[in-house]
Amino acid sequence: MEAVKHVKNNFVVGLGSGSTAAYAIEEIGNRIKREGLRILGVPTSHQAFALAVEHEIPITTFETHHQIDLTIDGADQIDDELNLIKGMGGALTREKIVASVSKSLVIVAEESKRVKILGQNNHPLPIEVLPFATPIIKHKIRGIGGAPVLRQGTRKVGPVITDNGNFIIDASFGPIHKPAELELKLKGITGVVETGLFIKMTDVVYLGKPDSTERIERKK
Ligand code: A5P
Repeated sequence: MEAVKHVKNNFVVGLGSGSTAAYAIEEIGNRIKREGLRILGVPTSHQAFALAVEHEIPITTFETHHQIDLTIDGADQIDDELNLIKGMGGALTREKIVASVSKSLVIVAEESKRVKILGQNNHPLPIEVLPFATPIIKHKIRGIGGAPVLRQGTRKVGPVITDNGNFIIDASFGPIHKPAELELKLKGITGVVETGLFIKMTDVVYLGKPDSTERIERKK
């Protein structure tokens, strides 16, 4: 996997969540075994933590490391400026915290995730919210033109509970022409923990195509 070649000795590496990031974690584990690569991982979810343990990647935490050299993660939608929608796996808040302290964010995704405008094809924006505030937040999301749906669990009745003990609202806004403005509006609602909009955070995207991988760098 091309993205994993970015990992160098002595790096602190953010370990993303989701099915694509899982391959990256496995490949990092392989490099540790094959090359004796020395790194420390910071998992972005219980899933990433379990995979790191399975693939024998040593873990560190924010108690000992305040900065991450490189994070490799997946995405749900990627626009031309490499802004992202993330969070269909419910791990958006920890993913965004880890990305926010990463010197470099590398995204791995299938080419179907590439879009002209975030939110197109009625793709919802995941928003992590405090359970207590959920009804008010849904009301306010409607007020700014969104259609909020509380994400429900599968094989568990009731709402999805995140790794942080919160709920997820999937809000459809249609095409999001001004993601930074929407981000400000949503973060201004008390009780919103985090949104799945990752704006100007990505450095490189590796897009998987049937026979090749396309590398896209963010223009700065
Ligand atoms: C997890 O909450 C998400 O942000 C994932 O990174 C995203 O949903 C991509 O997941 P897949 O690689 O499984 O499509």
